[in-house]
Amino acid sequence: MALDHESIGQVVARALDAFASASSTSELKDARLAHLGDRSALAAASKEIGSLPGPERKDAGQRLGAARAEVTAALAARQAEVEAAELERVLAEERIDVTLPVELVPQGAQHPITALMDQLSDVFVAMGWEIAEGPEVEGEWLNFDALNIGPDHPARGTSDTLFVEPIENHLLLRTHTSPVQIRSLLDRPLPVYVVCPGRTYRADEFDATHVPVFHQIEGLCVDKGISLAHLKGTLDHLARSMFGQDITTRMRPHYFPFTEPSAEVDLQCFVCHGASVGDPDNPCRTCRSQGWIEWGGCGVVNPRVLAACGIDTDVYSGFAFGMGIERTLMFRNNAADMRDMVEGDVRFSRSLKGVAR
Ligand code: DAH
Repeated sequence: MALDHESIGQVVARALDAFASASSTSELKDARLAHLGDRSALAAASKEIGSLPGPERKDAGQRLGAARAEVTAALAARQAEVEAAELERVLAEERIDVTLPVELVPQGAQHPITALMDQLSDVFVAMGWEIAEGPEVEGEWLNFDALNIGPDHPARGTSDTLFVEPIENHLLLRTHTSPVQIRSLLDRPLPVYVVCPGRTYRADEFDATHVPVFHQIEGLCVDKGISLAHLKGTLDHLARSMFGQDITTRMRPHYFPFTEPSAEVDLQCFVCHGASVGDPDNPCRTCRSQGWIEWGGCGVVNPRVLAACGIDTDVYSGFAFGMGIERTLMFRNNAADMRDMVEGDVRFSRSLKGVAR
């Protein structure tokens, strides 16, 4: 290339043209490589300078330097324009009209059964107990045999228990949370202090007071020197945390195969405090004028259960209890119809939003 004024002028003009007609950053990049890159006319001219005689070299060098400066400045200016235009386009294309009406997505609410299970669990977590969970499809041995519920026990029949086919696999939908007692004793080092909240199943009718899928919370403590007194103290603490400081509990003798002795735990009615008993003029809906509300089952863990889990019954003893969450919600929050708890109407959940006391 001739390094005379005219030729350099043409090179500059071509570069400026190319920049001007580039309308995107990628086109501009191509133009930059073509007109300022290693293989551009300007780069080739720079190389030629070296072979010119002294005075001409200086002159040509100055012209080339000025040309390069002009092209570089033009590139920078065009770059700014193209980028601004691109930003403008993105802003216009991605504009959000915040005034457009939106489709309102209805908000859910925590289910009161979940809220109550959390609350019950929290009482125990605060005392250092652990939460244990087990599967809802459970082994028959864990649900019954290990809990000393013998093969002829009526609860094992198909009229109460939902078995999972094929029947030879001895799997069922757990009928209570008590198998988690066994799992905890088999899995954990002693001492064991666990609560096990969870879903349970029975072949029950679906009506105001029965649902085939319901919830329980189980408690189990196995340690050295545990007695019925510890059970009573623990249940009293739980009752006070749930129903207020002035609640009274009582234990009524009962039978469960997995505890010995066994009891049912009742709460003194926190609405009438027993005043409705024998007073037909002042009936109480909460306790049905009984004065007491049946809350759950409990007892001292039967040594046969501990032995089934390989625990030395001369050294260790324990207590256990289990109560229904739905029942607790019913009498605690006046939820009269169990069907409301499974129908999934968010208005029901909202109406019991304040289940926390
Ligand atoms: N599993 C019993 C039921 O479903 C409730 C129960 C009673 C649990 C006594 C216990 C207990 O842990 O000691 O009816």
